[in-house]
Amino acid sequence: SNNIVVAIDGYSSCGKSTLAKALAKKLHFIFVDSGAMYRAVTLYFIRNNVDLHNHDQIAAALKDIHLNFHSRDYQTHITLNDEEVSAEIRLMPVSDNVSAVSAIKEVRVEMVKQQQRMGRSKNIVMDGRDIGTVVFPNAQVKLFMTADPKIRAERRFKELSPQNPQITMEEVFENLAHRDYADTTREESPLTRADDAIILDNTDLTPEEQLQFALDKIEPFL
Ligand code: C5P
Repeated sequence: SNNIVVAIDGYSSCGKSTLAKALAKKLHFIFVDSGAMYRAVTLYFIRNNVDLHNHDQIAAALKDIHLNFHSRDYQTHITLNDEEVSAEIRLMPVSDNVSAVSAIKEVRVEMVKQQQRMGRSKNIVMDGRDIGTVVFPNAQVKLFMTADPKIRAERRFKELSPQNPQITMEEVFENLAHRDYADTTREESPLTRADDAIILDNTDLTPEEQLQFALDKIEPFL
């Protein structure tokens, strides 16, 4: 098939999904936030006390989990077994446990399968940690995003604090540092830059500048 796939990977809170949403909107591509899928699985595991070392429980849980995206406005709208969970998956209980859940091989195998299905025939922008390396190794455009850790924590804090008034900057910074460490050092599909991914350090770039940078890379394939 000749559909276009744009893969955006990088550290936590680097603005991957902000850029992915803007691109999808501009190009009329499908936007998929793969992190939301791992977050929704994590929410299910927490609610159902799934033991992360019990492979039978994990397999049974994965069979019972049905995820759906409703990205009518290029935002992340995800349902877990028909329940809208888009807000709940951003809260700290999920953020604190998602790296452990996403390190489980069976979880990754199932999510990757679903992600590949979404990108089989449609133009798509997907952001995550292993999109350019594992999910779509043949993506036409791969971006690897990074930014200064302090700037990332500030951005994420601003985003979270309106709904979570009790949250502290230290807590956000620690969570990002912990997830980056876990995501880059795990055995299963660690976060790493694909050889052919273009680095986009957005520490000093506005969202508009990032969008233009990415559009310039995608243009030749349109
Ligand atoms: O993108 P977001 O920060 O919401 O992702 C949450 C977590 O899900 C990441 O810290 C990582 O552990 C996991 N993840 C992953 N592979 C992806 C996307 C997210 O392991 N493709």
